[in-house]
Amino acid sequence: MKGVVLAGGLGSRLRPLTSITNKHLLPVYDRPMIYHPLGTLAGAGVKDVIVVTGGNSAGDFMRLLGDGRSLGFRCLNYAFQEREGGIAEAIGLSRAFVGDEKFVVILGDNILENPITPYIEAFSRQEGGARVLLKRVSNPRDYGVAQVENGRVVSIVEKPSDPVSDLAVIGVYMYDARAFELIETLKPSGRGELEVTDLNNAYIRMGQLEADEITGWWSDCGASIDNLLEANVRVSEIMGRERP
Ligand code: DAU
Repeated sequence: MKGVVLAGGLGSRLRPLTSITNKHLLPVYDRPMIYHPLGTLAGAGVKDVIVVTGGNSAGDFMRLLGDGRSLGFRCLNYAFQEREGGIAEAIGLSRAFVGDEKFVVILGDNILENPITPYIEAFSRQEGGARVLLKRVSNPRDYGVAQVENGRVVSIVEKPSDPVSDLAVIGVYMYDARAFELIETLKPSGRGELEVTDLNNAYIRMGQLEADEITGWWSDCGASIDNLLEANVRVSEIMGRERP
């Protein structure tokens, strides 16, 4: 399965840290933020990856990551997003790289404690469609929120003011290649972006979205300076535990 890492966007919630560099290049404990989602993909056996980025720091990703072999990849590709057109738009830029295969997307500011291998394996067995990952949170208003009925996700609402559950849709998404056709049908949201939540709802309408609730700690560490600080501390604890 191919992998897509999204590292575009303006990172405006982390200014002035992001005034002259890309959010995903900021440190989380002992390495740049993007190393963490890349490590999650490598740990799940994903060998061919594309990094979608944008803005003035795009060249820095190539200087940092190179051909990706030292990170365990067979090949690392790059795509450039001209403007902050949304997560779904950024996914669309990986079309030529992904081709007709199933693929897994991870947001470059999402860090997970546990491997995603079981979910990737479940999606490999899935006939087609899409698969998302959920985590119970205390602040669902900050995320895409899933409404679950009889064990199935029946709708997802992006950053609802009145959340129907505490189940956040985290930034790991698995799709078949039909995602690219669906992205072409999406309309920009109120904030002018092609929303990944609209893409996921399109799969729900086709009856083809599966979901798993993840175990372990997870962070959208780019959402605020407090999330970034907490991620630094938690990652240092997790890595300390894993050290011999
Ligand atoms: O972290 C999980 C959440 O991520 C989900 O619960 C939400 O449904 C989803 O919309 C997203 O919300 P955020 O507000 O956190 O999205 P953000 O704008 O921070 O973008 C997330 C990542 O995607 C970020 O690492 C950069 C990348 N991105 C974003 C945009 C808007 C791009 O590469 N291009 C873009 O145009």
